[in-house]
Amino acid sequence: MPISLSVRAPGGSLETPLLVIALAPGESMPASIASIDAGLGGAIGRSLSRRDFRGGRDEVLHLSGGEKGVLRVLLVGLGKGDDRATSLRRAATLAARRANGMGVGSLTFHAESLGAREVEAVAVGLDMGAWIFLETKTLPPEDERREPLREATILAGGADAKQGLDAGLAFAEGYAIARRLSMMPGNLCTPDYLADTGREIAARHGMKATVLGRAEMEAEGMGSFLCVAQGTPQEPRLIALEYRKGGDAAPIVLVGKGLCFDTGGISIKPAQGMEWMKFDMCGGAGVLGAMETIARLGLNVNVVGLVGATTNMPSGTAVKPGDVVRASNGKYIEIINTDAEGRLVLADVLVYAQRFKPSAVIDAATLTGACVIALGHTATGVMGSDEALVRDVIAAGKRAGEPGWELPLWEDYKSLIKSEVADIKNSGGRPAGTITAALFLQEFAEGYPWVHLDIAGTAYSESDLGTIPAGPTGVPVGMFVELVRGRAS
Ligand code: BES
Ligand code: MN
Ligand code: ZN
Repeated sequence: MPISLSVRAPGGSLETPLLVIALAPGESMPASIASIDAGLGGAIGRSLSRRDFRGGRDEVLHLSGGEKGVLRVLLVGLGKGDDRATSLRRAATLAARRANGMGVGSLTFHAESLGAREVEAVAVGLDMGAWIFLETKTLPPEDERREPLREATILAGGADAKQGLDAGLAFAEGYAIARRLSMMPGNLCTPDYLADTGREIAARHGMKATVLGRAEMEAEGMGSFLCVAQGTPQEPRLIALEYRKGGDAAPIVLVGKGLCFDTGGISIKPAQGMEWMKFDMCGGAGVLGAMETIARLGLNVNVVGLVGATTNMPSGTAVKPGDVVRASNGKYIEIINTDAEGRLVLADVLVYAQRFKPSAVIDAATLTGACVIALGHTATGVMGSDEALVRDVIAAGKRAGEPGWELPLWEDYKSLIKSEVADIKNSGGRPAGTITAALFLQEFAEGYPWVHLDIAGTAYSESDLGTIPAGPTGVPVGMFVELVRGRAS
């Protein structure tokens, strides 16, 4: 659950367990803080003049405050980043994480001149930093617990501050849904669980929800999706949510890979680190989270969210290398590696997307280990059939603090996935693995502008990132929503 957030104008006396002051390099003490600092004996001013604190990115200085009024002070640096909202979001995330660790329960956030966009960024950041997943853990005894951060006040006086706050909360809810689903283990977050969550989101916001199972997918001829699901007794689910607030405009379709667990199947993965493959549904979680945020923002657009959910298991009934399956657009696929399953699921979902006559389709998938090698945990891999859409998606990611980087879908690479026995094969081996995966998808993304996001490196982290603990980051909720918001009337 997101923390409780409010805004109020700066100035006047302040009572708070923790005052967070975000400062850029070289920024002097804000005038509205001077009287508070005087009350604290000038500790903030001294830290700045002695250059103990310089406002660098991720720099944090914790000062003890007074006996009443401002009890503690946390200076957080904004760094030299070119986008102030992104820097503020990061600083707020870090501050909330620190507050959570200290056990203060409540904080007040100050930074100079916060407009609606900046308030939104701070609200998102505070919520991101306070997020924690405790559902599968027994809490420590009461006297050993630290109070989690429950509420925060942002000091901003502008008339549109409240608007920024509400938008920030809408993002926070979507991110929280995505991160929670991602964090849940595969035995709890099953395809049925994703479908139920989708239905809940739809019911809450008056969206239409459609959920297909094995029988319905068979009727659609989805032999590609179904071959992945044939090794698991769990019912596979194709989840469709339709948000319609854009009149008769063609919808934007968001597609997510929802592999609740990926063992690799018969081409089984090594045991070491296999547990991370519970995160193979982060694309699907991102679609569900984005639908929640879009509805909360009340954007005047038509958006369809599609999630292809199943589990990739080895078994006596599992698909095996050499098998040939037929996707719902009639194309034959030779299975080379059953661990290249995400593209098989997405192929039929991308064909399914055609029926919505979309203006654009954007899919997000933890699709290739190769993308982690190419771009690390910093940038999402972006590839697509439409130059303008690629540009829009990358710009949206920049606004959201979720950077993306384009890789080329050149014709040359297609030879890598040419099959002797079928129309295409599902693996081109190691060279250009991220690109060949996207080129495979492109064979099924016909009839609309399409962009693919490889979020294998950005959707979760195996180590603490400083601002974000090990686990899900919430990517690609922000990129999705910013793209949709950018196209809303
Ligand atoms: N889910 C994995 C990709 C992945 C790997 C995501 C590591 C995050 C971290 C995907 O299904 C997969 O196994 N891809 C294979 C493709 C290969 C067999 C062509 C891969 O990347 O090794
Ligand atoms: Mn796999
Ligand atoms: Zn996978």
